[in-house]
Amino acid sequence: MIIDGKKIAEDLRTKLKKEIGQIPSTQAKPGLTVILIGDDTASQIYVKNKKKFANEIGIRSEVIKFNSAITEQELIKQIHKLNNNNAVHGILVQLPLPNHINSKKIISEINPNKDVDGFHPYNVGNLSSGNDALVPCTPYGCYLLLKNAITNLSGLHAVIIGRSNINGKPMAQLLLKEDCTVTIAHSKTKNLKELCLTADILVASAGKAQMVKEDWVSKDCVVIDVGINRIEENGNKKIVGDVDFENVKNKVKAITPVPGGVGPMTISCLLNNTYKAYKKLIQIS
Ligand code: GUN
Repeated sequence: MIIDGKKIAEDLRTKLKKEIGQIPSTQAKPGLTVILIGDDTASQIYVKNKKKFANEIGIRSEVIKFNSAITEQELIKQIHKLNNNNAVHGILVQLPLPNHINSKKIISEINPNKDVDGFHPYNVGNLSSGNDALVPCTPYGCYLLLKNAITNLSGLHAVIIGRSNINGKPMAQLLLKEDCTVTIAHSKTKNLKELCLTADILVASAGKAQMVKEDWVSKDCVVIDVGINRIEENGNKKIVGDVDFENVKNKVKAITPVPGGVGPMTISCLLNNTYKAYKKLIQIS
């Protein structure tokens, strides 16, 4: 089975649009602000899409752009302004940031209740303690795709390749919560292929094009491919995942394609987090 991330992401946005549409006109609508620094092309595309999809479902969205020469202090001042703005329910600082800015420091200045990326230590801690939290968008998207393919994850062995704060680590927490047995593998892991062969669930987020081959997976495995790699093949540029999709797809129980798998889910989960943050903020204000 090919897991249709585009469709599942669309369904989530339809559900959100309906719920947001039911907010009384006397009440403020959810608001998302994205901060974009510098002129990284990939970041500009991501941010444009975030704004477009937000507006489509009734989330007010604005992008604040800064020159890459902005100082850490100026950026923090801007974040504090958004923290204090009641019309803003979600704040996202697009990464990567210029080298002279400390990303961890910046993230920790965001009001945790508005941290729709789920990167603030408050949310990271709550997720790992099994408490309610804003969960990072990419792993939450992977989790929803997995739940679409397998309803009961209990007792399954999940192998996650990649230990990033953005995906690998929060993914492990989500799967532990579902009673999976979780192994996090990374670039120093020995016998990676043999380890992957023992996986019921394989989450590939190593950042290495088509690394997971057909003989790395068992036939009952569900494969979630987080990779976005730009490669050139026979003179044509294309985007591929961390899994050798064409060969692996015929062997496994289910797999996400790239593009059209995890990618579309990430933005829908961001919108889901913005709506979740909104509901909590209007309750406590
Ligand atoms: N850059 C690439 N992925 C992400 C993400 O999930 N959040 C943010 N803020 N920046 C990113």
